Amino acid sequence: MLSEKYKEFTKWVIYQIYPRSFMDSNGDGIGDLQGVISKLDYIKELGANAVWLCPCFKSPNEDNGYDVADYCDIMDEFGTMEDMDQLIEGLHSRGMKLILDLVPNHTSTDHKWFQESRKGKDNPYSDYYYWFDVPPNDWESSFGGSAWQYDEMRGQYYLHTFAVGQADLNWENPAVVKAMQDVVDFWVDKGCDGFRIDVIDCISKDLPNGQDRLGPRIHEYIRALFGREKTAHLFTVGEGSTNDIDDIVLHCASGRDELSTLFIFEHMECGRTDKFTPEEGGMRALRDCLVYWQNETAKRDLLYSLFIENHDQPQMISRIGNDRDLRYESATDIAAMVYLLKGVPFIYQGQEIGMPAAHYDSIDDFDDVESLGAYRKYRETLSEEETLEKINFGSRDNGRHPMAWDGSKNSGFTEGDCEPWLINHSRAKEVNVENDLNSERSVRRFYQELLRLRAGSNAFLEDDFEVLSSQEDDFFIYTRAAGGEKWVVVCNFEKEQVIDLPFGCEKPALSNLGRKTADGRYLPYECAAAKCLC
Ligand code: GLC
Ligand code: CA
Repeated sequence: MLSEKYKEFTKWVIYQIYPRSFMDSNGDGIGDLQGVISKLDYIKELGANAVWLCPCFKSPNEDNGYDVADYCDIMDEFGTMEDMDQLIEGLHSRGMKLILDLVPNHTSTDHKWFQESRKGKDNPYSDYYYWFDVPPNDWESSFGGSAWQYDEMRGQYYLHTFAVGQADLNWENPAVVKAMQDVVDFWVDKGCDGFRIDVIDCISKDLPNGQDRLGPRIHEYIRALFGREKTAHLFTVGEGSTNDIDDIVLHCASGRDELSTLFIFEHMECGRTDKFTPEEGGMRALRDCLVYWQNETAKRDLLYSLFIENHDQPQMISRIGNDRDLRYESATDIAAMVYLLKGVPFIYQGQEIGMPAAHYDSIDDFDDVESLGAYRKYRETLSEEETLEKINFGSRDNGRHPMAWDGSKNSGFTEGDCEPWLINHSRAKEVNVENDLNSERSVRRFYQELLRLRAGSNAFLEDDFEVLSSQEDDFFIYTRAAGGEKWVVVCNFEKEQVIDLPFGCEKPALSNLGRKTADGRYLPYECAAAKCLC
Protein backbone atom coordinates (compact mmCIF):
# COMPACT_ATOMS: atom_id res chain seq x y z
CA MET A 1 0.00 0.00 0.00
CA LEU A 2 1.17 3.51 -0.75
CA SER A 3 2.13 5.57 2.28
CA GLU A 4 -0.42 8.18 3.36
CA LYS A 5 1.85 10.93 2.11
CA TYR A 6 2.16 9.36 -1.33
CA LYS A 7 -1.56 8.61 -1.48
CA GLU A 8 -2.20 12.28 -0.96
CA PHE A 9 0.04 13.07 -3.94
CA THR A 10 -2.06 10.83 -6.22
CA LYS A 11 -4.77 13.45 -5.77
CA TRP A 12 -2.55 16.08 -7.35
CA VAL A 13 -3.11 16.74 -11.02
CA ILE A 14 -0.16 18.70 -12.31
CA TYR A 15 -0.34 20.97 -15.34
CA GLN A 16 3.09 21.57 -16.86
CA ILE A 17 3.77 25.00 -18.29
CA TYR A 18 6.59 26.01 -20.59
CA PRO A 19 6.34 29.71 -19.73
CA ARG A 20 8.06 30.92 -22.88
CA SER A 21 5.28 29.44 -24.98
CA PHE A 22 2.19 29.57 -22.84
CA MET A 23 0.81 33.11 -22.91
CA ASP A 24 2.42 36.45 -23.71
CA SER A 25 0.91 39.33 -21.72
CA ASN A 26 2.92 42.26 -23.10
CA GLY A 27 3.18 41.68 -26.81
CA ASP A 28 6.91 40.96 -27.08
CA GLY A 29 6.35 37.50 -28.54
CA ILE A 30 7.55 35.69 -25.42
CA GLY A 31 5.29 34.06 -22.86
CA ASP A 32 5.59 35.36 -19.31
CA LEU A 33 4.36 35.05 -15.73
CA GLN A 34 1.51 37.54 -16.15
CA GLY A 35 0.42 35.39 -19.07
CA VAL A 36 0.34 32.36 -16.79
CA ILE A 37 -1.58 34.32 -14.14
CA SER A 38 -4.21 35.27 -16.72
CA LYS A 39 -4.86 31.57 -17.41
CA LEU A 40 -5.09 30.18 -13.89
CA ASP A 41 -8.84 29.72 -14.10
CA TYR A 42 -8.42 27.94 -17.43
CA ILE A 43 -6.06 25.50 -15.72
CA LYS A 44 -8.20 25.03 -12.66
CA GLU A 45 -11.32 24.44 -14.72
CA LEU A 46 -9.51 21.69 -16.57
CA GLY A 47 -9.32 19.82 -13.27
CA ALA A 48 -5.66 20.42 -12.44
CA ASN A 49 -4.75 21.46 -8.91
CA ALA A 50 -1.03 22.10 -9.35
CA VAL A 51 1.24 23.83 -11.83
CA TRP A 52 4.80 22.87 -12.69
CA LEU A 53 6.59 25.80 -14.23
CA CYS A 54 9.63 25.05 -16.35
CA PRO A 55 12.60 27.23 -15.29
CA CYS A 56 11.69 30.88 -15.00
CA PHE A 57 14.94 32.07 -13.43
CA LYS A 58 17.51 34.52 -14.82
CA SER A 59 19.11 32.92 -17.83
CA PRO A 60 20.81 33.77 -21.12
CA ASN A 61 18.59 31.05 -22.64
CA GLU A 62 21.13 28.95 -24.43
CA ASP A 63 18.94 26.01 -23.32
CA ASN A 64 15.79 28.01 -22.66
CA GLY A 65 16.16 28.56 -18.96
CA TYR A 66 17.86 25.26 -18.12
CA ASP A 67 21.00 27.38 -18.03
CA VAL A 68 20.33 29.31 -14.84
CA ALA A 69 22.27 32.50 -14.15
CA ASP A 70 20.54 33.27 -10.84
CA TYR A 71 18.34 30.72 -9.05
CA CYS A 72 16.68 33.34 -6.87
CA ASP A 73 15.68 35.87 -9.47
CA ILE A 74 13.21 35.88 -12.35
CA MET A 75 14.15 35.85 -16.03
CA ASP A 76 13.74 39.40 -17.36
CA GLU A 77 11.53 38.30 -20.26
CA PHE A 78 9.19 36.47 -17.86
CA GLY A 79 8.66 39.33 -15.42
CA THR A 80 9.68 40.19 -11.88
CA MET A 81 9.68 38.70 -8.40
CA GLU A 82 6.46 40.63 -7.76
CA ASP A 83 4.88 38.73 -10.66
CA MET A 84 6.08 35.48 -9.12
CA ASP A 85 4.62 36.42 -5.74
CA GLN A 86 1.36 37.23 -7.46
CA LEU A 87 1.42 33.88 -9.25
CA ILE A 88 1.99 31.98 -6.00
CA GLU A 89 -0.82 33.91 -4.38
CA GLY A 90 -3.07 33.30 -7.40
CA LEU A 91 -2.44 29.57 -7.19
CA HIS A 92 -2.79 29.24 -3.44
CA SER A 93 -5.95 31.30 -3.30
CA ARG A 94 -7.44 28.80 -5.77
CA GLY A 95 -6.30 25.86 -3.64
CA MET A 96 -3.61 25.01 -6.16
CA LYS A 97 0.07 24.12 -5.69
CA LEU A 98 3.23 25.39 -7.31
CA ILE A 99 6.04 23.13 -8.43
CA LEU A 100 9.24 24.82 -9.58
CA ASP A 101 11.93 23.39 -11.80
CA LEU A 102 15.22 23.06 -9.96
CA VAL A 103 18.34 22.65 -12.10
CA PRO A 104 21.05 21.49 -9.69
CA ASN A 105 23.41 19.73 -12.09
CA HIS A 106 24.71 22.81 -13.88
CA THR A 107 24.52 26.57 -14.00
CA SER A 108 24.83 28.95 -16.88
CA THR A 109 28.40 30.08 -17.46
CA ASP A 110 26.90 33.56 -16.85
CA HIS A 111 26.18 32.60 -13.24
CA LYS A 112 28.21 34.57 -10.72
CA TRP A 113 29.63 31.31 -9.33
CA PHE A 114 31.11 30.43 -12.71
CA GLN A 115 32.28 33.94 -13.45
CA GLU A 116 34.20 33.89 -10.16
CA SER A 117 35.36 30.31 -10.54
CA ARG A 118 37.01 30.93 -13.88
CA LYS A 119 39.13 33.70 -12.36
CA GLY A 120 41.54 31.23 -10.86
CA LYS A 121 42.37 28.55 -8.35
CA ASP A 122 42.53 30.95 -5.40
CA ASN A 123 39.03 32.20 -5.89
CA PRO A 124 36.49 31.14 -3.21
CA TYR A 125 34.34 29.69 -6.01
CA SER A 126 37.27 27.89 -7.60
CA ASP A 127 35.96 24.39 -6.82
CA TYR A 128 32.31 25.02 -7.65
CA TYR A 129 32.91 23.36 -11.02
CA TYR A 130 35.06 20.59 -12.46
CA TRP A 131 38.32 22.02 -13.79
CA PHE A 132 41.10 19.97 -15.37
CA ASP A 133 44.31 20.85 -17.20
CA VAL A 134 43.56 18.07 -19.63
CA PRO A 135 40.14 16.44 -20.14
CA PRO A 136 40.24 13.31 -17.94
CA ASN A 137 38.00 11.32 -20.28
CA ASP A 138 36.26 11.48 -23.64
CA TRP A 139 32.74 12.18 -22.43
CA GLU A 140 30.46 13.72 -25.00
CA SER A 141 27.94 16.45 -24.41
CA SER A 142 24.29 15.38 -24.71
CA PHE A 143 23.90 18.11 -27.30
CA GLY A 144 26.85 16.98 -29.42
CA GLY A 145 30.62 17.48 -29.32
CA SER A 146 33.01 17.06 -26.41
CA ALA A 147 31.70 17.60 -22.87
CA TRP A 148 34.95 19.44 -22.03
CA GLN A 149 35.43 23.07 -22.92
CA TYR A 150 38.66 25.03 -22.63
CA ASP A 151 38.28 28.33 -20.79
CA GLU A 152 40.90 30.93 -21.75
CA MET A 153 40.62 32.90 -18.54
CA ARG A 154 41.14 29.97 -16.20
CA GLY A 155 43.47 28.17 -18.59
CA GLN A 156 41.72 24.86 -17.89
CA TYR A 157 38.88 22.70 -19.15
CA TYR A 158 35.46 22.60 -17.49
CA LEU A 159 32.78 19.92 -17.80
CA HIS A 160 29.48 20.59 -19.54
CA THR A 161 27.25 17.52 -19.83
CA PHE A 162 24.82 19.66 -21.85
CA ALA A 163 25.44 22.89 -23.81
CA VAL A 164 28.76 24.73 -23.65
CA GLY A 165 27.03 27.41 -21.59
CA GLN A 166 25.84 24.88 -18.99
CA ALA A 167 28.80 24.17 -16.70
CA ASP A 168 28.42 21.16 -14.37
CA LEU A 169 28.53 21.97 -10.68
CA ASN A 170 30.94 20.06 -8.51
CA TRP A 171 28.77 18.54 -5.78
CA GLU A 172 31.84 17.08 -4.07
CA ASN A 173 32.34 20.60 -2.79
CA PRO A 174 30.24 21.04 0.41
CA ALA A 175 29.80 24.72 -0.46
CA VAL A 176 27.85 23.70 -3.57
CA VAL A 177 25.55 21.47 -1.52
CA LYS A 178 24.97 24.31 0.91
CA ALA A 179 24.37 26.81 -1.89
CA MET A 180 21.75 24.55 -3.46
CA GLN A 181 20.07 23.97 -0.08
CA ASP A 182 19.81 27.74 0.21
CA VAL A 183 18.13 27.91 -3.20
CA VAL A 184 15.58 25.28 -2.19
CA ASP A 185 14.92 27.03 1.11
CA PHE A 186 14.52 30.39 -0.57
CA TRP A 187 11.68 29.02 -2.68
CA VAL A 188 10.12 26.99 0.12
CA ASP A 189 9.97 30.19 2.16
CA LYS A 190 8.24 31.86 -0.75
CA GLY A 191 5.56 29.18 -0.70
CA CYS A 192 6.70 26.72 -3.35
CA ASP A 193 5.06 23.31 -2.75
CA GLY A 194 7.39 21.05 -4.65
CA PHE A 195 10.13 20.68 -7.21
CA ARG A 196 10.75 18.94 -10.45
CA ILE A 197 14.46 18.27 -10.36
CA ASP A 198 16.33 18.41 -13.63
CA VAL A 199 18.72 15.54 -14.56
CA ILE A 200 19.00 14.51 -10.94
CA ASP A 201 20.84 11.32 -11.90
CA CYS A 202 23.83 13.37 -13.08
CA ILE A 203 24.74 15.34 -9.98
CA SER A 204 27.20 12.85 -8.52
CA LYS A 205 30.20 12.11 -10.69
CA ASP A 206 32.97 9.65 -10.45
CA LEU A 207 35.73 12.05 -11.46
CA PRO A 208 38.58 12.17 -12.28
CA ASN A 209 39.10 8.42 -12.32
CA GLY A 210 35.72 6.85 -12.87
CA GLN A 211 34.29 6.01 -16.21
CA ASP A 212 30.71 5.93 -15.00
CA ARG A 213 28.82 9.19 -15.20
CA LEU A 214 26.51 8.13 -12.40
CA GLY A 215 28.58 8.73 -9.33
CA PRO A 216 28.31 7.05 -5.94
CA ARG A 217 27.15 9.95 -3.77
CA ILE A 218 23.82 10.71 -5.42
CA HIS A 219 21.68 9.55 -2.49
CA GLU A 220 23.60 11.63 -0.02
CA TYR A 221 23.17 14.75 -2.15
CA ILE A 222 19.46 14.27 -2.73
CA ARG A 223 18.92 13.76 0.98
CA ALA A 224 20.86 16.92 1.70
CA LEU A 225 18.27 18.76 -0.36
CA PHE A 226 15.02 17.01 0.46
CA GLY A 227 15.60 14.83 3.50
CA ARG A 228 15.55 17.78 5.89
CA GLU A 229 12.75 18.81 8.22
CA LYS A 230 12.15 21.93 6.19
CA THR A 231 11.73 20.03 2.95
CA ALA A 232 10.27 16.67 3.96
CA HIS A 233 6.69 17.71 3.14
CA LEU A 234 7.49 18.73 -0.46
CA PHE A 235 6.40 16.89 -3.56
CA THR A 236 9.53 16.07 -5.51
CA VAL A 237 9.83 14.46 -8.91
CA GLY A 238 13.27 13.69 -10.25
CA GLU A 239 14.09 13.74 -13.92
CA GLY A 240 16.82 11.59 -15.36
CA SER A 241 17.49 8.69 -17.61
CA THR A 242 17.39 6.08 -14.84
CA ASN A 243 14.83 3.49 -15.82
CA ASP A 244 15.87 0.66 -13.61
CA ILE A 245 13.29 -0.38 -11.04
CA ASP A 246 15.92 -1.10 -8.38
CA ASP A 247 17.41 2.38 -8.68
CA ILE A 248 14.00 3.86 -8.28
CA VAL A 249 13.40 1.97 -5.07
CA LEU A 250 16.56 3.57 -3.70
CA HIS A 251 15.30 7.05 -4.56
CA CYS A 252 11.60 6.83 -3.92
CA ALA A 253 10.74 4.07 -1.44
CA SER A 254 9.03 5.64 1.50
CA GLY A 255 11.52 6.20 4.32
CA ARG A 256 14.40 6.87 1.92
CA ASP A 257 13.89 10.62 2.46
CA GLU A 258 14.85 11.38 -1.12
CA LEU A 259 12.23 11.92 -3.82
CA SER A 260 8.48 11.35 -4.03
CA THR A 261 8.71 9.97 -7.54
CA LEU A 262 10.78 9.91 -10.72
CA PHE A 263 9.83 10.40 -14.32
CA ILE A 264 10.29 7.03 -15.97
CA PHE A 265 10.94 7.64 -19.66
CA GLU A 266 10.62 4.11 -20.96
CA HIS A 267 7.20 4.69 -22.50
CA MET A 268 8.55 7.74 -24.33
CA GLU A 269 10.53 5.32 -26.49
CA CYS A 270 7.36 3.64 -27.74
CA GLY A 271 6.99 4.15 -31.45
CA ARG A 272 10.58 5.06 -32.17
CA THR A 273 13.94 3.33 -32.43
CA ASP A 274 15.71 6.48 -31.33
CA LYS A 275 14.58 10.02 -30.69
CA PHE A 276 14.61 10.91 -34.39
CA THR A 277 13.48 7.62 -35.97
CA PRO A 278 9.88 6.37 -35.97
CA GLU A 279 8.87 2.73 -35.51
CA GLU A 280 5.61 0.78 -35.84
CA GLY A 281 3.63 -0.67 -32.95
CA GLY A 282 3.63 2.34 -30.69
CA MET A 283 0.22 1.83 -29.07
CA ARG A 284 0.97 -1.77 -28.12
CA ALA A 285 4.39 -0.83 -26.83
CA LEU A 286 2.90 2.01 -24.80
CA ARG A 287 0.36 -0.35 -23.22
CA ASP A 288 2.93 -3.00 -22.36
CA CYS A 289 5.25 -0.46 -20.85
CA LEU A 290 2.51 1.09 -18.73
CA VAL A 291 1.44 -2.36 -17.51
CA TYR A 292 4.99 -3.25 -16.52
CA TRP A 293 5.43 -0.08 -14.50
CA GLN A 294 2.00 -0.26 -12.86
CA ASN A 295 2.79 -3.75 -11.62
CA GLU A 296 6.36 -3.13 -10.56
CA THR A 297 5.64 0.11 -8.73
CA ALA A 298 2.62 -1.44 -7.00
CA LYS A 299 4.72 -4.34 -5.69
CA ARG A 300 7.15 -1.88 -4.17
CA ASP A 301 4.68 0.79 -3.01
CA LEU A 302 6.21 3.39 -5.27
CA LEU A 303 4.50 6.47 -6.60
CA TYR A 304 4.49 6.51 -10.40
CA SER A 305 4.37 9.62 -12.57
CA LEU A 306 1.76 9.46 -15.32
CA PHE A 307 2.70 11.63 -18.26
CA ILE A 308 2.27 11.60 -22.01
CA GLU A 309 4.31 14.57 -23.16
CA ASN A 310 6.61 17.28 -21.93
CA HIS A 311 8.79 20.09 -23.26
CA ASP A 312 11.43 17.60 -24.43
CA GLN A 313 9.09 15.33 -26.39
CA PRO A 314 7.04 15.55 -29.56
CA GLN A 315 3.29 15.09 -29.13
CA MET A 316 2.19 11.46 -28.66
CA ILE A 317 -0.74 11.78 -31.07
CA SER A 318 1.69 12.78 -33.81
CA ARG A 319 3.97 9.86 -33.01
CA ILE A 320 1.79 6.86 -32.21
CA GLY A 321 -1.74 8.16 -32.71
CA ASN A 322 -3.33 9.80 -35.71
CA ASP A 323 -3.05 13.58 -35.54
CA ARG A 324 -5.02 14.08 -38.77
CA ASP A 325 -8.50 12.61 -39.18
CA LEU A 326 -8.55 10.82 -35.81
CA ARG A 327 -6.90 13.54 -33.78
CA TYR A 328 -9.70 13.88 -31.23
CA GLU A 329 -10.07 10.12 -30.91
CA SER A 330 -6.40 9.34 -30.43
CA ALA A 331 -5.81 12.27 -28.06
CA THR A 332 -8.64 11.18 -25.80
CA ASP A 333 -7.91 7.46 -26.08
CA ILE A 334 -4.29 7.90 -25.03
CA ALA A 335 -5.46 10.11 -22.15
CA ALA A 336 -7.78 7.36 -20.89
CA MET A 337 -5.01 4.76 -21.25
CA VAL A 338 -2.70 6.75 -19.04
CA TYR A 339 -4.59 8.91 -16.57
CA LEU A 340 -6.92 6.33 -15.07
CA LEU A 341 -3.91 4.34 -13.95
CA LYS A 342 -2.33 4.70 -10.54
CA GLY A 343 0.07 7.58 -10.03
CA VAL A 344 0.35 11.34 -10.25
CA PRO A 345 -0.98 12.77 -13.53
CA PHE A 346 1.06 15.40 -15.36
CA ILE A 347 -0.62 17.15 -18.28
CA TYR A 348 1.56 19.13 -20.63
CA GLN A 349 0.21 22.41 -22.01
CA GLY A 350 -1.67 21.88 -25.28
CA GLN A 351 -2.21 18.20 -24.68
CA GLU A 352 -5.69 19.01 -23.43
CA ILE A 353 -6.69 20.29 -26.87
CA GLY A 354 -4.81 17.66 -28.85
CA MET A 355 -2.13 20.05 -30.17
CA PRO A 356 -0.08 18.30 -32.85
CA ALA A 357 3.65 18.41 -33.62
CA ALA A 358 5.08 21.53 -35.28
CA HIS A 359 6.27 20.60 -38.80
CA TYR A 360 8.70 23.26 -39.93
CA ASP A 361 9.95 23.63 -43.51
CA SER A 362 13.46 24.82 -42.80
CA ILE A 363 16.12 24.24 -40.17
CA ASP A 364 16.11 28.02 -39.64
CA ASP A 365 12.66 27.67 -38.09
CA PHE A 366 14.03 25.52 -35.25
CA ASP A 367 15.45 26.96 -32.05
CA ASP A 368 16.29 23.98 -29.84
CA VAL A 369 19.99 23.49 -29.16
CA GLU A 370 19.59 19.69 -29.23
CA SER A 371 17.79 19.73 -32.60
CA LEU A 372 20.45 21.96 -34.14
CA GLY A 373 23.17 19.60 -32.88
CA ALA A 374 21.32 16.59 -34.29
CA TYR A 375 20.81 18.41 -37.59
CA ARG A 376 24.56 18.95 -37.96
CA LYS A 377 25.23 15.32 -37.14
CA TYR A 378 22.64 13.86 -39.54
CA ARG A 379 23.66 16.21 -42.35
CA GLU A 380 27.07 14.51 -42.42
CA THR A 381 25.44 11.40 -43.89
CA LEU A 382 21.86 12.30 -44.95
CA SER A 383 20.30 14.67 -47.47
CA GLU A 384 18.68 17.94 -46.37
CA GLU A 385 15.24 16.45 -46.88
CA GLU A 386 15.97 13.24 -44.95
CA THR A 387 17.53 15.21 -42.15
CA LEU A 388 14.58 17.59 -41.85
CA GLU A 389 12.23 14.63 -41.69
CA LYS A 390 14.16 13.30 -38.73
CA ILE A 391 14.34 16.65 -36.97
CA ASN A 392 10.62 17.27 -37.53
CA PHE A 393 9.85 13.88 -36.03
CA GLY A 394 12.00 14.18 -32.93
CA SER A 395 12.65 17.84 -32.25
CA ARG A 396 11.97 19.21 -28.80
CA ASP A 397 10.53 22.28 -30.54
CA ASN A 398 7.46 20.16 -31.27
CA GLY A 399 6.65 20.44 -27.61
CA ARG A 400 7.70 24.07 -27.41
CA HIS A 401 5.75 25.95 -30.04
CA PRO A 402 3.37 28.53 -28.61
CA MET A 403 0.06 27.49 -27.14
CA ALA A 404 -2.68 28.10 -29.70
CA TRP A 405 -5.54 29.91 -27.95
CA ASP A 406 -7.54 30.95 -31.02
CA GLY A 407 -7.37 31.18 -34.80
CA SER A 408 -6.05 34.75 -35.01
CA LYS A 409 -2.72 35.68 -36.61
CA ASN A 410 -0.57 34.73 -33.66
CA SER A 411 -3.05 32.21 -32.24
CA GLY A 412 -3.99 34.48 -29.35
CA PHE A 413 -0.58 33.74 -27.84
CA THR A 414 0.70 37.27 -28.40
CA GLU A 415 -1.14 40.40 -29.41
CA GLY A 416 1.79 42.63 -30.24
CA ASP A 417 3.46 43.23 -33.57
CA CYS A 418 6.33 40.97 -32.60
CA GLU A 419 6.42 37.51 -34.08
CA PRO A 420 6.23 34.74 -31.45
CA TRP A 421 9.72 33.58 -30.44
CA LEU A 422 9.04 30.25 -32.14
CA ILE A 423 6.72 29.68 -35.11
CA ASN A 424 3.48 28.01 -34.15
CA HIS A 425 2.46 24.57 -35.33
CA SER A 426 1.33 24.54 -38.94
CA ARG A 427 -2.35 23.87 -38.10
CA ALA A 428 -2.82 26.49 -35.39
CA LYS A 429 -5.72 28.08 -37.30
CA GLU A 430 -7.61 24.80 -36.96
CA VAL A 431 -6.30 23.30 -33.71
CA ASN A 432 -6.61 25.84 -30.92
CA VAL A 433 -8.42 26.26 -27.62
CA GLU A 434 -11.30 28.30 -29.03
CA ASN A 435 -12.06 25.79 -31.77
CA ASP A 436 -11.74 22.92 -29.37
CA LEU A 437 -14.29 24.42 -27.00
CA ASN A 438 -16.68 25.17 -29.86
CA SER A 439 -16.42 21.68 -31.21
CA GLU A 440 -18.80 18.87 -30.37
CA ARG A 441 -15.73 16.74 -29.95
CA SER A 442 -13.70 18.73 -27.47
CA VAL A 443 -10.52 17.14 -26.18
CA ARG A 444 -10.54 19.54 -23.27
CA ARG A 445 -14.08 18.59 -22.23
CA PHE A 446 -13.05 14.95 -22.35
CA TYR A 447 -10.09 15.73 -20.08
CA GLN A 448 -12.40 17.53 -17.69
CA GLU A 449 -14.73 14.53 -17.52
CA LEU A 450 -11.83 12.15 -17.13
CA LEU A 451 -10.30 14.13 -14.29
CA ARG A 452 -13.68 14.48 -12.60
CA LEU A 453 -14.17 10.73 -12.79
CA ARG A 454 -10.69 10.10 -11.45
CA ALA A 455 -11.16 12.49 -8.54
CA GLY A 456 -14.57 11.06 -7.77
CA SER A 457 -13.64 7.49 -6.97
CA ASN A 458 -11.00 5.95 -4.75
CA ALA A 459 -10.81 3.10 -7.25
CA PHE A 460 -8.53 5.25 -9.38
CA LEU A 461 -6.23 6.08 -6.50
CA GLU A 462 -5.78 2.74 -4.76
CA ASP A 463 -3.51 -0.18 -5.64
CA ASP A 464 -5.93 -2.53 -7.32
CA PHE A 465 -5.01 -2.77 -11.00
CA GLU A 466 -5.65 -5.71 -13.30
CA VAL A 467 -5.06 -6.14 -17.02
CA LEU A 468 -7.64 -8.04 -19.03
CA SER A 469 -6.07 -7.65 -22.48
CA SER A 470 -3.07 -9.63 -23.69
CA GLN A 471 0.07 -8.54 -25.50
CA GLU A 472 -1.38 -9.87 -28.78
CA ASP A 473 -4.46 -7.66 -28.56
CA ASP A 474 -4.74 -4.35 -30.34
CA PHE A 475 -6.52 -2.82 -27.39
CA PHE A 476 -5.97 -2.23 -23.70
CA ILE A 477 -8.45 -3.23 -21.01
CA TYR A 478 -7.76 -2.74 -17.35
CA THR A 479 -9.74 -2.57 -14.14
CA ARG A 480 -9.29 -0.40 -11.09
CA ALA A 481 -11.01 -1.14 -7.80
CA ALA A 482 -11.36 -0.01 -4.22
CA GLY A 483 -13.87 -0.45 -1.41
CA GLY A 484 -16.13 -2.83 -3.35
CA GLU A 485 -16.28 -0.54 -6.38
CA LYS A 486 -14.73 -1.70 -9.63
CA TRP A 487 -14.18 0.18 -12.87
CA VAL A 488 -13.17 -1.09 -16.27
CA VAL A 489 -11.31 1.02 -18.81
CA VAL A 490 -11.38 -0.09 -22.45
CA CYS A 491 -9.11 1.61 -24.99
CA ASN A 492 -9.15 0.46 -28.59
CA PHE A 493 -6.14 0.99 -30.88
CA GLU A 494 -6.01 1.74 -34.62
CA LYS A 495 -8.40 -0.95 -35.94
CA GLU A 496 -12.17 -1.13 -35.70
CA GLN A 497 -13.05 -4.36 -33.87
CA VAL A 498 -15.39 -6.09 -31.43
CA ILE A 499 -14.30 -6.01 -27.80
CA ASP A 500 -16.13 -8.27 -25.39
CA LEU A 501 -16.01 -8.02 -21.63
CA PRO A 502 -16.35 -11.02 -19.32
CA PHE A 503 -18.74 -9.17 -17.00
CA GLY A 504 -21.57 -6.69 -17.18
CA CYS A 505 -21.19 -2.96 -16.70
CA GLU A 506 -23.22 0.14 -16.16
CA LYS A 507 -23.48 2.57 -19.07
CA PRO A 508 -20.00 4.12 -19.50
CA ALA A 509 -19.45 7.19 -17.35
CA LEU A 510 -16.67 8.26 -19.70
CA SER A 511 -16.56 7.67 -23.43
CA ASN A 512 -14.91 9.64 -26.21
CA LEU A 513 -17.59 8.73 -28.77
CA GLY A 514 -20.64 8.67 -26.52
CA ARG A 515 -20.84 4.88 -26.31
CA LYS A 516 -23.87 3.31 -24.64
CA THR A 517 -22.30 0.04 -23.48
CA ALA A 518 -18.82 -0.93 -22.43
CA ASP A 519 -18.52 -3.79 -24.92
CA GLY A 520 -19.38 -4.34 -28.57
CA ARG A 521 -17.95 -2.93 -31.80
CA TYR A 522 -15.32 -0.28 -31.14
CA LEU A 523 -14.24 2.31 -33.70
CA PRO A 524 -10.53 3.21 -34.04
CA TYR A 525 -9.20 4.84 -30.85
CA GLU A 526 -12.58 4.60 -29.17
CA CYS A 527 -12.45 4.36 -25.39
CA ALA A 528 -14.80 3.97 -22.45
CA ALA A 529 -14.72 3.67 -18.69
CA ALA A 530 -17.63 2.04 -16.89
CA LYS A 531 -18.51 0.79 -13.44
CA CYS A 532 -18.59 -3.02 -13.36
CA LEU A 533 -21.58 -4.98 -12.13
CA CYS A 534 -19.36 -7.55 -10.44
C1 GLC B 1 16.47 18.13 -18.88
C2 GLC B 1 15.47 19.16 -19.39
C3 GLC B 1 15.92 19.62 -20.73
C4 GLC B 1 17.29 20.26 -20.59
C5 GLC B 1 18.28 19.31 -19.91
C6 GLC B 1 19.51 20.04 -19.43
O1 GLC B 1 16.48 16.99 -19.65
O2 GLC B 1 14.19 18.64 -19.39
O3 GLC B 1 15.00 20.50 -21.32
O4 GLC B 1 17.79 20.61 -21.83
O5 GLC B 1 17.73 18.70 -18.78
O6 GLC B 1 19.21 20.90 -18.38
CA1 CA C 1 6.00 38.70 -22.89
